[in-house]
Amino acid sequence: MMSDVEYLRSQLSEHPDFPKKGIVFLDIFPILRNPVAFETLITHLVHHLTSHTIPNSTSKKIDVVVGLDARGFLLGPIIALRLGAAFVPVRKKGKLPGQCVSASYEKEYGVDVFEMQAEGIQPGQTVVVVDDLIATGGSAKAAGELVAIQGGKTLEYLFIIELAFLKGSEKLDAPVYSIIQSD
Ligand code: ADE
Repeated sequence: MMSDVEYLRSQLSEHPDFPKKGIVFLDIFPILRNPVAFETLITHLVHHLTSHTIPNSTSKKIDVVVGLDARGFLLGPIIALRLGAAFVPVRKKGKLPGQCVSASYEKEYGVDVFEMQAEGIQPGQTVVVVDDLIATGGSAKAAGELVAIQGGKTLEYLFIIELAFLKGSEKLDAPVYSIIQSD
């Protein structure tokens, strides 16, 4: 009998030299195409969040799930609904109406800016940040900054895949939980 983790790993597809030479792109969309795998994924993450396994958190209640542009939008709202929490998106600059807070982060070429609506998080709220994959951790770090600017407390960063050799988790102000670690 395969574990959840083995099963989910078996559903990923690898694309060598995408989007450019030397990168092995790990595609999560086969999981979403398969309802059994997608349910396994969401149930695994929600079970993790509700089974008192988050280190260093005094409060187990999660107020807000923050999802990162773009694949964090595919997971975050489902997790938020199952938890009875709010979902708040972090988007690339210029996409969100109303007053926003912003934070910049380094990409391979140059700098990008993330924004969150200022109403998204109230001071003292507990937050988990969700994306599909952590590489260098730059975008997750910027999202954590947006949470902190608003007085929120990030309990944990949640990913399907962690490219562990890039050590992105070392940049972040809270623990990382990833289902699959890849080198
Ligand atoms: N984002 C950064 N590196 C990636 C990779 N190897 N696969 C998928 N998404 C990525």
